[in-house]
Amino acid sequence: MRMYDLIHKKRNNQQLTDEEIKFMINNYVNGGIPDYQMSAMLMAIYFNGMNDREISTMTNVMAQSGDMVDLSSIEGIKVDKHSTGGVGDKTTLIIAPVVAYYGVKVAKMSGRGLGHTGGTVDKMEAIPGLKTNFSQEEFFNIVNKTGISVIGQSGNLAPADKKLYALRDVTATVESIPLIAASIMSKKLAAGSDCILLDVKTGSGAFMKTLDDSIALAQKMVTIGENCGRKTVALITDMDIPLGNNIGNSLEIKEVIETLKGNGPKDLTEICIKLAGNMLYLADKGTIEQCENLAKEAIEKGYALNKLIEIVEAQGGDIQYIKNPEKFEKSKYSLDVILEDNIDGYISGMDTEGLGIASTMLGAGRETKDDNIDFSAGIILNKKVGDKVKKGDILCTLYTNDKNKLESARKKVISSIFTDKNKPKDIPLVFARVEKSKIEKF
Ligand code: URA
Repeated sequence: MRMYDLIHKKRNNQQLTDEEIKFMINNYVNGGIPDYQMSAMLMAIYFNGMNDREISTMTNVMAQSGDMVDLSSIEGIKVDKHSTGGVGDKTTLIIAPVVAYYGVKVAKMSGRGLGHTGGTVDKMEAIPGLKTNFSQEEFFNIVNKTGISVIGQSGNLAPADKKLYALRDVTATVESIPLIAASIMSKKLAAGSDCILLDVKTGSGAFMKTLDDSIALAQKMVTIGENCGRKTVALITDMDIPLGNNIGNSLEIKEVIETLKGNGPKDLTEICIKLAGNMLYLADKGTIEQCENLAKEAIEKGYALNKLIEIVEAQGGDIQYIKNPEKFEKSKYSLDVILEDNIDGYISGMDTEGLGIASTMLGAGRETKDDNIDFSAGIILNKKVGDKVKKGDILCTLYTNDKNKLESARKKVISSIFTDKNKPKDIPLVFARVEKSKIEKF
């Protein structure tokens, strides 16, 4: 078999056989196929796509390129959750304690920030002392004891995805439905949970910018999960504005704590109840409505906050920071961003990716792979889409430990928040729910 012939086939919009896909992925991982040939293949897939069989085969081969985690020593139903990436998305740290309170096990491997989007592992490490790097045995022990553990992705989980993702990142082939579906699902299958909830983001802050593309991606991923024996549901959720008000690592942890105390922003609280409700549903805890009510109760009665304290303690974190969030170190510098336009109107929209980039510029994310994160850096939004505004209002406050970063971040924020005389129409937080052979639009 020759890689040249496979590229030629895909370029001419023909299907690859299972044997050809195995040859291509396995030889790329072991160095037998060079980056330039794989780049040509990725571009051919970007333009000509893959059918469901090709995507499923590619996903399985990528999953099996490294460790397949066996979670059978953890008792009970294990549910995983994956977000396709967003700005201000701290939902994992709210919903994992909610579902764990009801006995559902969450043995989760999470990523770090990628591009303009934040990562759960970076956010968790903003809690002093907290570790995200454990041996498999320690990881399983924490899940058995507390019901949850969230750790960094192990080095050998779907190494084919690691290599392909890095190549896609530099060959303009990230935004391809078959490639995203195979990338995400290979990691989810390798991570070993029984059920998978996918949070597919749509809008200006997401990789998929339109609802149709987001639904198509969700359908592919649900089909792959179900064909591999994992109960899988996807929610299509809004990423046209950041989730909640806080962007940046320790700022987001503070918002997680407030939300678990029942004082969180409305959008974040609502979306977390929907996501947690669907995870409980996947674990057979009742109908969607019953499960959403359970999720509400765990927040209202403080059960989920107590669960968060348990998991932080189990992972070595200082729980005093969760009990007294004012203990989190404040950044040395802050700057209020003032609305300068002569307007009496509304916030009409936000370039969410732009706000994510501004937060990274302040130090909350990495500009290069080896950068250190400034945990206290970020943005607190004072106004969101639909809020009334006039000249002189504070739109948001920027936080950083490097004074020189304030002005460029302020300019980026100003160009990412839009105003209008007219109130924008309300948009739903959840646009659709995709289950095996069923799509509900809201
Ligand atoms: N997240 C992933 O893990 N892979 C993609 O391709 C896109 C988002």
